[in-house]
Amino acid sequence: MVVIAKNCPDIEVEVVDINENRIKAWNDTNLDNLPVFEPGLSEILIDVRNNNLTFSSKVESSIRNSDMIFISVNTPIKEKGMGAGETSDLRWVESCARLISKSARGHTIVVEKSTLPVKTAQTIKEILDSSTSNNSDEDRTFSVLSNPEFLAEGTAINDLVNPDRVLIGGDDLEAMNALKDIYIKWVPENKIIFTNLWSSELSKLSANALLAQRISSINSLSAICEVTGAEIGDVAHAVGMDSRIGGKFLKAGPGFGGSCFKKDILNLVYLSRFYGLNEVADFWQETVAINSWQKNRIYKEIVARLFGNLADKKIGILGFAFKENTNDTRESPAIDICRNLLNEGAFLNIHDCKVNEKTIDKDLSSKNLFDKNMWAHKKDVYSVFEDAHAVIFMTEWSIYKTLDWKRILPIIKQPFWVFDTRLILDPNEIKNFGLNIWQLGNGMNK
Ligand code: UDX
Repeated sequence: MVVIAKNCPDIEVEVVDINENRIKAWNDTNLDNLPVFEPGLSEILIDVRNNNLTFSSKVESSIRNSDMIFISVNTPIKEKGMGAGETSDLRWVESCARLISKSARGHTIVVEKSTLPVKTAQTIKEILDSSTSNNSDEDRTFSVLSNPEFLAEGTAINDLVNPDRVLIGGDDLEAMNALKDIYIKWVPENKIIFTNLWSSELSKLSANALLAQRISSINSLSAICEVTGAEIGDVAHAVGMDSRIGGKFLKAGPGFGGSCFKKDILNLVYLSRFYGLNEVADFWQETVAINSWQKNRIYKEIVARLFGNLADKKIGILGFAFKENTNDTRESPAIDICRNLLNEGAFLNIHDCKVNEKTIDKDLSSKNLFDKNMWAHKKDVYSVFEDAHAVIFMTEWSIYKTLDWKRILPIIKQPFWVFDTRLILDPNEIKNFGLNIWQLGNGMNK
């Protein structure tokens, strides 16, 4: 919405949320208090906030006055009931649709922006249409569009300013053109594509499934590298030079995290099973299974090298976010790996450039498995190493690539192990300091 407001000064953008604290944070004059950290966001926000972009909790009046409404709510995986653990929880989408149906006036274009299971637009349409038939005295009509968001966290602003494509799905050409008129202000016309609603919804799930599958593919190959003496960085480089494969999104790592990949694949699996396509469902399910396996095997490699015993050992954790340049920890591989290490009795010193202690606490202590006496949040990256027997590089923050190892040597326990799950270190440099290193996908590991 910030990017729309910036590029369309003639459009009034109102971001509304029933959560008043969140709105307060978006209105905070101290930009460090914004609810999300995203490079480049605050610079644009400061330009447009309270000009043509406002944040408020006046949801109903905003709906009443809007010509176009974007539904951008959370759609996590369902926790209970039918489809639990497999399909998205649509309660917030549904309640938005009900609120819109109650409060809208005149003709309103409703745009699905959240990633949703295929056919959700139909649900939204039915809810909206039922309100028009119940209140025949009110003159209100709706057009529903799907406009999935392809941005990645950490690069969101650039992805929005220079998108590979903008996808608009619908069956009302006038409404589709109205949305196109917004994007055309900064996106080249040949990158704005029209499809029907279902192709648009399925394209978003498919893009994420294919991206996640690429990571599971390279991660599965990282394990083969380790046993054969090959190096995953070299293999990725060599295969990526094939123009049919391409070099992007081939970095082996501890497994994909983030709010989308797992959820979207599980939605695809659910959809496939629903239509009796069990082989298709099994195929995509394996992408998620390899991802869990990758996290689990890294944990086992760590335990094996620390003599099978982590009790009374301190381990440093560098990075808790699911990738660099974000403070988001949803589905972060660090969570599962840290939980497994805590379960072995290790004490963890955890550092992240943007994730705060409260978030780490929430992620580690859910289900009351671990208490705060078993880990410490460290603000200074070097204090992670104090009396530690090992360190694990979990997120690829750039400051971790240039640590001063001479400063670290006097404060660690020997023998000391470095575990590099992101391939950001030079193993020879670490070995030259007399330290042991295990690097993901490196066939030269001991
Ligand atoms: C993803 C999609 O990229 C984006 O198009 C969609 O709109 C939302 O989901 P996001 O989850 O923000 O975006 O981040 P992304 O950069 O895709 O990374 C996801 C995970 O994959 C991270 O944990 C990252 O570390 C991992 N990853 C990514 C790799 O392990 N290797 C890679 O080569 C790329």
